Amino acid sequence: MEYPNLKEAQKRSNKKVNYIKYELDDKYQNLGKNKKYYVKTYGCQMNEHDSENICGLLESIGYTKAKDMASSDIVILNTCSIRENAHNKAFGMLGRLKHLKQEKTDLIIGLCGCMAQEEVVVEEIKKKYRNVNFIFGTHNLYDLPRLIFETNTNKKTNISVLSIEGDVIEDLPVKRVNNFKAYVNIIYGCDKFCTYCIVPYTRGKQRSRLMEDILKEVEKLKQDGFMEVTLLGQNVNAYGKDLNLGYDLSDLLQKVSDIGIPRIRFITSHPWDFTDKMIDVIKKNSNIMPYIHLPLQSGSSKILKLMGRRYTKEDYIRLFDKLKKIDGVAITTDIIVGFPGETEEDFQETLDMVNYCKYDGAFTFIFSPRVGTPAERLMKNDHVDLHEKEKRLYELNDLVNSYSLMHNKEYLGKVEEVLVEGESVKENQLYGYTKTNKLVNFNGDLSLIGKLVNVKITDAKSFSLDGELVE
Ligand code: 5AD
Ligand code: SF4
Repeated sequence: MEYPNLKEAQKRSNKKVNYIKYELDDKYQNLGKNKKYYVKTYGCQMNEHDSENICGLLESIGYTKAKDMASSDIVILNTCSIRENAHNKAFGMLGRLKHLKQEKTDLIIGLCGCMAQEEVVVEEIKKKYRNVNFIFGTHNLYDLPRLIFETNTNKKTNISVLSIEGDVIEDLPVKRVNNFKAYVNIIYGCDKFCTYCIVPYTRGKQRSRLMEDILKEVEKLKQDGFMEVTLLGQNVNAYGKDLNLGYDLSDLLQKVSDIGIPRIRFITSHPWDFTDKMIDVIKKNSNIMPYIHLPLQSGSSKILKLMGRRYTKEDYIRLFDKLKKIDGVAITTDIIVGFPGETEEDFQETLDMVNYCKYDGAFTFIFSPRVGTPAERLMKNDHVDLHEKEKRLYELNDLVNSYSLMHNKEYLGKVEEVLVEGESVKENQLYGYTKTNKLVNFNGDLSLIGKLVNVKITDAKSFSLDGELVE
């Protein structure tokens, strides 16, 4: 058994990152024969993509996908730690699974993801949710076949969570959610240690994949007819820095662009590492989408300092102004309100920044203290009650939404290229995304899913556009 330890996970050393090729041990090959799996994912795109690897691993040992949880033989919960409500959702699901396991005693339950990396969570599961068969962490997805194998011999919760800086595992099997849009990891972990954030503890040190491995994956996706790749990392702009091989994100973007996939995206960008060279590569290549997610977090330089963000309001504006020069660009952001010590004036500065940047969209959050992070200890300086924080959040949201609507209205009457993603919740409608990542609903045939089409925009709302297919 290997237990998580957030203190250990905080350490960063000069230890070399190992690049390891995954291979399945023959003895696990038929473990899932005639059995069904269900994977429930919480949290960010990183987790969504990890789940694609988890599904790939399960299928490699014979499992097939179940249509729902009740008809599955194994359920894996891939969890998220970023805010408290993510925790609550996963624990709520564990409660529901307790009942399911009473009816179906041989159901296997596994838990993984960021929550698995926290000792408080693992302790609680051991105490209160004894029906969980095993827990594995973000560093050792590859351990899943072995853990399933051992559930047959071991009745106790098997815990296999490494609190290490992390390696890079190549060649994990992958079962992608769809066959035209793909996530490709380019960098794992994070070394920024923003004071509110638990990610550097749960996902380990910043470590880039080798460029040749990324390009090989993208080339294969191109051959398989994929229309879009999203390059993934907690901070993609740091790509290559840890490798010292003389290349960075701008070089990678150029090489990925040259492969010729119609659409390339990348998330998330930290304002600290964004270089002019990267901006030039985005401007020069029409298949790199003019869409940038640039988390602000706060508009007050005082709060940014407490957050450990390494930029001031003025630095952010300088970068923002440069990015705005990219033709037709849409910029979105993340903002936290109610960080300990945030005064009414600090909050006002955040609103001022939103008025300056007029974002295309923003994800907004109330600060949620995370166990073991420096900002949790700042809570003693927190003199703003939750009600006031909620008021700030609503005021911020109203402002953010007004700018989203303003930008969306600029699309009225224009013809936009849309990658069709699927059937809309609205009857007889399809949905897809513009180059700038705007959601569009329009009439069309299901055969268009996975294709690029032209859509004339006829209506604009805060969160979506309506349109008509253009021949
Ligand atoms: N509380 C609230 N929001 C947080 N985020 C990260 N950690 C916290 C926290 N402890 C937000 C940040 C980040 C986004 C993914 O989640 O805005 O950019
Ligand atoms: Fe968290 Fe900051 Fe790293 Fe983003 S850059 S994952 S907010 S520590």
